[in-house]
Amino acid sequence: MVRLHVNVDHVATVRQARRETFPSPVAWALAAERAGAQGITCHLRQDRRHIQDADVAELRARIATRLNLEASLAPAIVDLAVATRAHAYCLVPENRTEVTTEGGLDVVGELARLREVVPRLVEVGGEVSLFVDPDAHQLAAAAESGAQFVELHTGAYANATGAARAAELERLRAAAERAHALGLRVNAGHGLDYENVAPIVLLPHVEELNIGFALVAEALFTGVDAAVRRMCALLSPPPD
Ligand code: PXP
Repeated sequence: MVRLHVNVDHVATVRQARRETFPSPVAWALAAERAGAQGITCHLRQDRRHIQDADVAELRARIATRLNLEASLAPAIVDLAVATRAHAYCLVPENRTEVTTEGGLDVVGELARLREVVPRLVEVGGEVSLFVDPDAHQLAAAAESGAQFVELHTGAYANATGAARAAELERLRAAAERAHALGLRVNAGHGLDYENVAPIVLLPHVEELNIGFALVAEALFTGVDAAVRRMCALLSPPPD
């Protein structure tokens, strides 16, 4: 069974749109857990456009499952990540003008920095994953970084249609096999929704999916409980 980690960033996006105190990403996370989420993910961006420092502290203190903190390699963010003592960390690229995380981390180019950062996070008890495109060079570098996991970027798959989507799925499958052969554990995420998630669940070696936007969007119509339960059912399909 593939675990569902619910990303609560966009609950905070709604709150920050009005600089209000509600809706609370923490309350939403607790409701997601009651509906079956096996972990909660958030991204503390340098520009603080959605999740705030206090949200991270409150999530860490109050959720019953596991906190996966997405963080860039910016020194101040890494210091905050270390202090959070999250259960897991996902290191991501960050560009201030992007609408959302656009590509995977350049693990090849950032390997020296990763060799400093990853051990600091492992030392405080975190599992560390690197958000990577399904690319053999990036995976080889990830295996050199000390990270235990990669999170395969499913954005290109999600954005593609027809034969192009089938080709992206094949790239993900090859990357999952390659990562496993290199001794890396495999998560995946970005752009996944109710319509495109099923083939990702069936990829080899995938342990956890990080899903945010589609769940928050669905919950506007059905509520968080139904939205998360519907996704959980897709992640653990009944045996044939
Ligand atoms: N994984 C990573 C590393 C991400 O940066 C994001 C977006 O914050 C997600 C997963 C979730 O993507 P989405 O909101 O499209 O489900």
